[in-house]
Amino acid sequence: MSTAPILVASCSPRKGGNSDFAASLIARTLPGQANVMRVADMSVRPCNACGVCDSMPGRCTLDGYTVQPTDPKAPLPPMDGAKALFAALAGGPVSFVVSPIYYYHIPAQAKAWVDRAQRWWAMNGETPARGKALACVFISGRTNGERLFEGAELTMRWMARTLGMEWMEPLHLRGLESSSALADSPELQASVSYYTAKVLAGLPR
Ligand SMILES: Cc1cc2nc3c(=O)[nH]c(=O)nc-3n(C[C@H](O)[C@H](O)[C@H](O)COP(=O)(O)O)c2cc1C
Repeated sequence: MSTAPILVASCSPRKGGNSDFAASLIARTLPGQANVMRVADMSVRPCNACGVCDSMPGRCTLDGYTVQPTDPKAPLPPMDGAKALFAALAGGPVSFVVSPIYYYHIPAQAKAWVDRAQRWWAMNGETPARGKALACVFISGRTNGERLFEGAELTMRWMARTLGMEWMEPLHLRGLESSSALADSPELQASVSYYTAKVLAGLPR
């Protein structure tokens, strides 16, 4: 198995909440190095359908974007983080994405990242992440609802497909409303650790 760091992407804008907690738990369960990233802090700009990737697959005009501050003494804003996130996905043999459910979907910041995979749409999965696996943990506040995870799951599954990644069955965690709900539940923490180990065991040797 590759020894490159494994991406653990936390998709909640809420700092220190359940997604961040699950991400650090996954990172601690991994045998090697983890690369934990908070997607909402990475200034990923949404796709504006400029069409450049239609003729130049793999290229995105939004990469490396930075706004010039009007105050020359002000610190530069962060670079657009989509490129770094995709590079991290292509690093380890598997990546973990942890996301809360927002209105049956992933939060807007994370959806902006997914849409930026459009640059590879025309390449039939021939991307730097080809052959790697994608494992997702979805977290909801509600305890019931048959279709609670469907929207988020479809979106992440199709990002995996666009990137030529193998889709691993995701983990669903229900009933986590407050930011400390997962920290207060040893049972659900155990299911996150178990899921991580199961994903690793399912990877090709
Ligand atoms: C804008 C917003 C929309 C939400 N929509 C849903 C929803 O549709 N279904 C649900 O079960 N929980 C929903 N929730 C609750 C979150 O999924 C839940 O609080 C989760 O634990 C947040 O994860 P975090 O602690 O990592 O931020 C929503 C929360 C917010 C802030």
